[in-house]
Amino acid sequence: MATAHKTAAHHTKAKTRTKPRRTRRTATRDPLAVSLLKKDHREVEGWFDEYEQLDSDDEKLALFNKIALALKVHTAIEEEIFYPEERGEVEDDMLDEAYVEHDGAKKLIAEIEAMKPGDEFYDAKVKVLGEYIKHHVKEEEQPGGLFSQAKRGDEDLNEMGERLKARKQELMAEWGKAYS
Ligand SMILES: [Fe+2]
Ligand SMILES: [Fe+2]
Repeated sequence: MATAHKTAAHHTKAKTRTKPRRTRRTATRDPLAVSLLKKDHREVEGWFDEYEQLDSDDEKLALFNKIALALKVHTAIEEEIFYPEERGEVEDDMLDEAYVEHDGAKKLIAEIEAMKPGDEFYDAKVKVLGEYIKHHVKEEEQPGGLFSQAKRGDEDLNEMGERLKARKQELMAEWGKAYS
């Protein structure tokens, strides 16, 4: 029967989704891996907003250095831990795009690092990097996005959170030296 075929096709499309997606997570119920990454997002978004209020080149450079280090460490822990461990759990295309967006951000960071505040387009590049990051963060956090598709149990994501935290500390100490 036509109806039966339709149902079968529908089931094929739904694939592995046997359990309802945990799309109703609130901030307080996020497992550690997700809450840590979201906290990084809020922090760096705040710094981009702060940057716009600055006039002095020294302050701009200091704040940009903070942003650059935070973004390098954040993208590294996602690429070393969160992204590969979620491969197979989340949509491949979405994950691939996230890597490509990280690469785009890293290129822009490198361009800015080769310049100094006051140079033509310095502020514009920082602004564009901020917009780029906000877009990427939205893709990760929005309903149906990478974080909400992470289907490992909350216990696993809590355990992963501990590893993200430890690796972040390590990299901040290691890479932070270049900025002090
Ligand atoms: Fe992120
Ligand atoms: Fe990311």
